[in-house]
Amino acid sequence: MKKLYINTILNNKIQNVLVEEDIITYIGNDFKSADKIIDAKHSYIMPGIIDPHTHIRDMGQADKEDWLSASKAAMKGGVTMLFDMPNTKPPTVDLNTLNQKRKAAKKSLVKYRFNVAATSVNYDKVVEILQSKPDDVAALKMFFAGSNSNEFVNDLEVIKRYFELSLKFDIPVIIHTEWQDCVAKYSADFSNPTIFDHNLMRHRECAVKGTEIALKLAGEIGNKIVNAHTSVAEELDLIRQYKKKVNVFCEVTPHHLLINEDILEKVGNFGKVNPPLRTSKDNEALWEGINDGTVDFIGTDHAPHKISEKLLAFDKAPSGFPGLETNLRLMLNEVNKGNLSLKRLIELTSTNVARVFDLQAYGKIEKGYYADFIFINLDKKWEIKAADFESKAKYTPFEGFTGKGDLIMIN
Ligand code: DOR
Ligand code: ZN
Repeated sequence: MKKLYINTILNNKIQNVLVEEDIITYIGNDFKSADKIIDAKHSYIMPGIIDPHTHIRDMGQADKEDWLSASKAAMKGGVTMLFDMPNTKPPTVDLNTLNQKRKAAKKSLVKYRFNVAATSVNYDKVVEILQSKPDDVAALKMFFAGSNSNEFVNDLEVIKRYFELSLKFDIPVIIHTEWQDCVAKYSADFSNPTIFDHNLMRHRECAVKGTEIALKLAGEIGNKIVNAHTSVAEELDLIRQYKKKVNVFCEVTPHHLLINEDILEKVGNFGKVNPPLRTSKDNEALWEGINDGTVDFIGTDHAPHKISEKLLAFDKAPSGFPGLETNLRLMLNEVNKGNLSLKRLIELTSTNVARVFDLQAYGKIEKGYYADFIFINLDKKWEIKAADFESKAKYTPFEGFTGKGDLIMIN
């Protein structure tokens, strides 16, 4: 099957893009013969979003989300590939559970990779997975603190062993760097906490502490690490400083970039997430990181929970909210506001993800690359209404936000 997209705007020029099976085979002005011709009507073409941070759930938590609902949400948000996180039921900790997940993922409408849990009890199982040379495992995921999570690791020797493994198999370790001892220490001060205490319990120092530990160890060992959902200014400063000598990559989420604890008055537990929403100063610091190149990519941290769970009292309500269907809209709106260029957005949502996780022939619109692309209209207005989400989690702290710039078509 040959498809010709005509009248696309690529690199500020009107061009035609020919796709044969799943590969881009021509870009230019010729009107190539094709089985199907699709008129892009002068809309911008950009690589589909590759989201390295998605909690799909399914299996034991299919009531929260499954691969079909998550991938429908992905398509609505312009995401053509997502990386699933391992803190599922059952958790992705060995070949057996990875195979269970592979089976569940067959329902997916978009491409995917898996992140495998690195905990203190499954090291040998992770070795077995890596020795099987899987082509669908993107990274190891390690939690330095509990967070609806796989077992957390605070033992430096264990972390070191995984970093050595990461170097040996050339696979990145994605780290949730909030440090458990620190979270426990700060949380102990609150006997009857509310959502307004979340940012103090999971104190900014805790994220900084874990990031510093990871950076120092990765500096010694030389492996690739990803600082997941970077949320505070000091973390970003450390990453900026260590980037010169350490193979560290920096992920931010749209929520840590665009909203802060001020919104909690309005959204309550719907804004409960780990790491917590921080301050407007932290928003600004993350923007600086976007603009000076310290931030490498955007992850949605799509973390669906049931609305009934989010309505529980603060200490019972789980952390996380859906992000697949808000990311592209919110970020295109930032392009419209002049806060970043479309070129930089493309780097952050696809090109850099493909580079860091070594996804060959992904993340660019070029001849020989996979035809994972989307079309956008920068003038299209939107209002975020969670009731319209494809995700089973029909709530968001961005409810009622309005803006401009939206998806119009996905290849
Ligand atoms: O808010 C969060 N939710 N942070 C995490 O680290 C895990 C995630 C989840 O799986 O719900
Ligand atoms: Zn996450």
